[in-house]
Amino acid sequence: MNAPIVKPWIDAIHAYVPGKAKLGGFAEPVKLSSNENPLGPSPKAIAAMAATAGHAHRYPDPASVALREAIAARYGLDAGRIVCGTGSDELLQLLATAYCGQGDEIVHDVHGFSLYPIAARRSGAEPVAAGDTDYTTDVDKILASVTPATRLVFVANPNNPTGTMIGRAELHRLHAGLRPDILLVIDGAYAEYVEDPDYEDGFAMARDLPNVVTTRTFSKIYGLAAERIGWAYGPQAVIDVLNKVRAPFNVPAAGGAGAVAAIGDSDWVDASRVHNKQWRHWLAGEIAALGNAGLRAVPSAANFILVTFPAEGPITAEAANAALMIDGILVRWLPGQGLPNALRITIGTEAETRAVAASLRRFVETAA
Ligand SMILES: Cc1ncc(COP(=O)(O)O)c(C=O)c1O
Repeated sequence: MNAPIVKPWIDAIHAYVPGKAKLGGFAEPVKLSSNENPLGPSPKAIAAMAATAGHAHRYPDPASVALREAIAARYGLDAGRIVCGTGSDELLQLLATAYCGQGDEIVHDVHGFSLYPIAARRSGAEPVAAGDTDYTTDVDKILASVTPATRLVFVANPNNPTGTMIGRAELHRLHAGLRPDILLVIDGAYAEYVEDPDYEDGFAMARDLPNVVTTRTFSKIYGLAAERIGWAYGPQAVIDVLNKVRAPFNVPAAGGAGAVAAIGDSDWVDASRVHNKQWRHWLAGEIAALGNAGLRAVPSAANFILVTFPAEGPITAEAANAALMIDGILVRWLPGQGLPNALRITIGTEAETRAVAASLRRFVETAA
């Protein structure tokens, strides 16, 4: 029987595995599996979204003008060189689709964001995983993975799921080592959490260099993951291409209004950053105290910590994950991303962060 045949490069995709949100036996599990803002959206964003409900019969602004202007004002950018997307996911996928196809290669960190290989395959290109060094993007290994077939390099800075970042000189060295026809995509989903003065946000690069694009999201520090809003800033030619291939009404009205309000509520963003820094520091200390059992908190610049475990014995990441779930806590175990010996733990509220630390300690003491 003839049947529709999926394209082989689409068939090769391993579907994205989202963080778990449900846990049997718990009406409201502690959800530390998706790097969301534990403080929630700004109350101003909630009010702005609610105010749009009566207009839900109207299509949203196809050009997201108010949102692009708010982003441009906040970050000091040209609104004409910003494009908004249905999450930065959409824009990352569209960049791959627009610039890569069969026979091409897309390079990413072996422990990079799991959407990158999906975006590569969806475009028909081959994802190429470059090694890292101690969970940190290694510029030399990325450059060594570039071949004549390379068309695009994805770099998340800070990186997910490792939380590590590279500094200004390294990012510039990466760009300098790429051919001009290779697009460098700097994914700054967690940029607003970074306080290191050596951080390069990539905006000046994306303003001045014809092959650099930056992406950002409202899903993390702005607390609007459910609304699916991201944006990209880059060379006019690239932005024009993204505007050709994106869906016409890709930013919903409620979320768009919420994002404008969220970006205007700098007190909420600052409070979120301060909360994250305080409890990330605290949790890293709690994990360091379990160092004798082989646990290690990889230094993080983001709103989560990668915790590594011994590969064998009673105290493994898999066993810890199971123990956390018995306590109603969801984190991210990462065997599918080449990290079977690690858990990624989002910084939660104070109570959630204390709960995950206490549960880990209990597990270690019981298992030892
Ligand atoms: C590094 C990185 N980039 C992009 C995204 C996508 O975010 P969104 O599509 O919600 O904007 C995420 C989400 O977890 C991420 O971790």
